[in-house]
Amino acid sequence: MPSFAPALPRPRGPVSYAVITALSEREPHAGQFTLPTPLRADPLGADAQLALCVCYELHYAGFTGVDDGWEWDPELLELRHELEERFLSTLHEQTSGANDANASLDQLLVEPMDGAGLSDYLADRGTWVHMREFFAHRSLYHLKEADPHAWVIPRLTGAAKAALVAVEFDEYGGGRADRMHSTLFADLLRAARMSSRYLAYVDCVPPESLATVNFMSLCGLRRQLRAALVGLLAAAEITTAPSARKILAGLERLEAPHECRHFFAEHIEADAVHEQVLRHDVVAELLREDPKCEADIVFGIEASELLEQRLAHFILDKWGRERSSLSPIPLSD
Ligand SMILES: [Fe+2]
Ligand SMILES: [Fe+2]
Repeated sequence: MPSFAPALPRPRGPVSYAVITALSEREPHAGQFTLPTPLRADPLGADAQLALCVCYELHYAGFTGVDDGWEWDPELLELRHELEERFLSTLHEQTSGANDANASLDQLLVEPMDGAGLSDYLADRGTWVHMREFFAHRSLYHLKEADPHAWVIPRLTGAAKAALVAVEFDEYGGGRADRMHSTLFADLLRAARMSSRYLAYVDCVPPESLATVNFMSLCGLRRQLRAALVGLLAAAEITTAPSARKILAGLERLEAPHECRHFFAEHIEADAVHEQVLRHDVVAELLREDPKCEADIVFGIEASELLEQRLAHFILDKWGRERSSLSPIPLSD
C-alpha cells in the first residue's frame, strides 16, 4: 500500500462493522467473510455508504495495515455488488428516466431564482467556520480530484476519449504536481489550518457526503456505467464554475488566505473551458458513436445532481439550526 494510505474509518453499523473488522483482522481470499444477513441497511444511509466507501478505497490508496489483496476478494466484491445494486435502484427510483442529454445539461444552467443554494449561502452569509466545514465535506473528493473519472479513459474511444483526457490533463496540473487540483486543495486545507491527510475527515462527514463520491467511484469502476460517468463529469464541469465564483466571493468577504481563494479562482477559469469540451467533444462524440447510451448519460447527470442537492440540504439544514454539519463521532443509521 502507498505511504499515504489512511487508517480504516470507524464503523457506523453492522455492514460497515463486518467489512472493517474483516479488513483489519483477516487475510483476503480466505473465504471466511461473514455478513449480516439479510442486508437491511438503508442504501443511502451511513452504514451502507461507509461500507461502499471502504470497498472503493481499496481501489485508490488502500488502508494502513490492510492487505492489498482485499481489493479483489470475491466475497467482498459480492457484498459491494449488492450494496451497489441497492444504491443504483434507489437512484433510478428518484430520477426521471429521461432521454435527452442536452436538455438535462441545459437544465443545470438555470440558476435557482431564490438564491438559496449552498454556494449562495457561502457567498452571502457563510462564516469561516462554515467554510472550513465545507472544505471538510469536499476533501473526500478533492484530495483525489479527477481519479474516479480516470477509470473511464480505457472505456472510451476516438474523439470522446481524446477530449476527456485533455480535461483530465488539466485536473492533473498539466504535468506539474504542484498544479494538480488535488495538490491545490491540500494547499487550501493547510492554509485553513486543517488536515490535508487523505480521508482525514471520513469519520466526521454524513452519508450524504460519502454518497456523492461513492457514485463517482461506482460509475468509474463499472464499464457498464461509462456513459453515466461521462454524464456526471459533464454535470460537475457545468456547475462548478458558477458555484466556484460564489464561494470565491464568500472567501474574499472573509479575507481568507490566498491558497483558499486560489483553488476556486482556478476552477472558475478552467471549468468554463471544461464545460464546453465535455458538452461538445465528449458527450456529443459519445452519443454519435453510441446513441443508445443517452439515457445513461442523463442518469449520471440527474443522479449526481440529486446527491449534491441532498448534501446541500443536509448542510443548510444544520447551519439553519446553528448546528455543525460535521460530527465529532461517526454518524450511525
Ligand atoms: Fe478541478
Ligand atoms: Fe474541471
